[in-house]
Amino acid sequence: MTTIRVALDPPYDVVVGPGALAEVGRLVADRRRVVIVSQAAIADRYAEAVRAGIAAPNDVLLMGDGEQFKSLTTVEELCRGFARVGLLRGDVVIALGGGVVGDTAGFAAAVYHRGVAVVQVPTTLLAMVDAAIGGKTAVNLPEGKNLVGAFHQPIAVVADTDTLASLESREYRSGLGEVAKYALMYDVVADPTGLVDILRTGTTAVLDRDPALLGDVVARCAGIKADVVAADPYERTGVRATLNLGHTLAHALEIAFEHRLTHGEAVAIGLVYAGALAGGCERVGMDVVDRFQAVPASLGLPVAVPDAEAVTAGSLLELMRRDKKASGGLTFVLPGRDGLELVEDPPTAALRYAFESVGITDGGWT
Ligand code: GLY
Repeated sequence: MTTIRVALDPPYDVVVGPGALAEVGRLVADRRRVVIVSQAAIADRYAEAVRAGIAAPNDVLLMGDGEQFKSLTTVEELCRGFARVGLLRGDVVIALGGGVVGDTAGFAAAVYHRGVAVVQVPTTLLAMVDAAIGGKTAVNLPEGKNLVGAFHQPIAVVADTDTLASLESREYRSGLGEVAKYALMYDVVADPTGLVDILRTGTTAVLDRDPALLGDVVARCAGIKADVVAADPYERTGVRATLNLGHTLAHALEIAFEHRLTHGEAVAIGLVYAGALAGGCERVGMDVVDRFQAVPASLGLPVAVPDAEAVTAGSLLELMRRDKKASGGLTFVLPGRDGLELVEDPPTAALRYAFESVGITDGGWT
């Protein structure tokens, strides 16, 4: 078991490893009442293991499975459920599931009684390395994703890597897209995490979900996320924005393909694009451009846009300009000799080269 500290005020721990679900009870031992929020299939598998360690009275509330349940309607249902079982301000909510559960239960905990404690217990690779850490909670509106939310840091995060064994393979691979991102985030500077090497030498073990290696990989990714969050908890200084490496194109692809690409698949293509864009801007050499392609490729992730003739560079540029994190123009997180930086409006030739690197040759430039 590895414990990573998120150095905020107050600090909290991310506990990572096989069998970590047994740790949840210890982390809520001082609480009077506990509510576990989950979805039916996940609760069937894991709720008993969590409840077994909890001494306080506890209940399980179920929410629907699917992005459409990440809604204000679900938040109201959860908050009414909290009220029915008598949850008070000093009690605790446990969010047991993937990103949809973590975001929705986390937001319900942020607003119920003006804020009750939450323990994030992610059961997908994507949630373990990203959404569960850092306190971003939100639900969707018909007008857009994550439009209503709050920063609400958990009191602890528990990532039991045994839960990854049962993930559907496309969902597991989607998480690997974020793992590739973490590997490449620090690669340019000094690779203090060694993730690129681990992924290179342990590719088969990662793809086979070798429990020992997965514990190490998740802990390293969680460690990077914890450091970035501690440096910029409210995404104000630009440090936290570096977590969006590969995400500018990824968000546009997710919209253009109406989510037929998973988030991780879109991020993988976005990483190739970001590497090439940095190369085209002469921020990095070809070795880095190649690595931004090789790391996702080695994990079996797409490195070019499938069905590329369905989109044009122009339509993707338009979507990228509308990204809620862009400040009017085009903003990318790109590697450079001093590490990751936010780069605005790169030159057209570099954009053209980057689009070509992911298989989009039809300009449609506006
Ligand atoms: N997923 C990006 C962040 O937590 O800031």
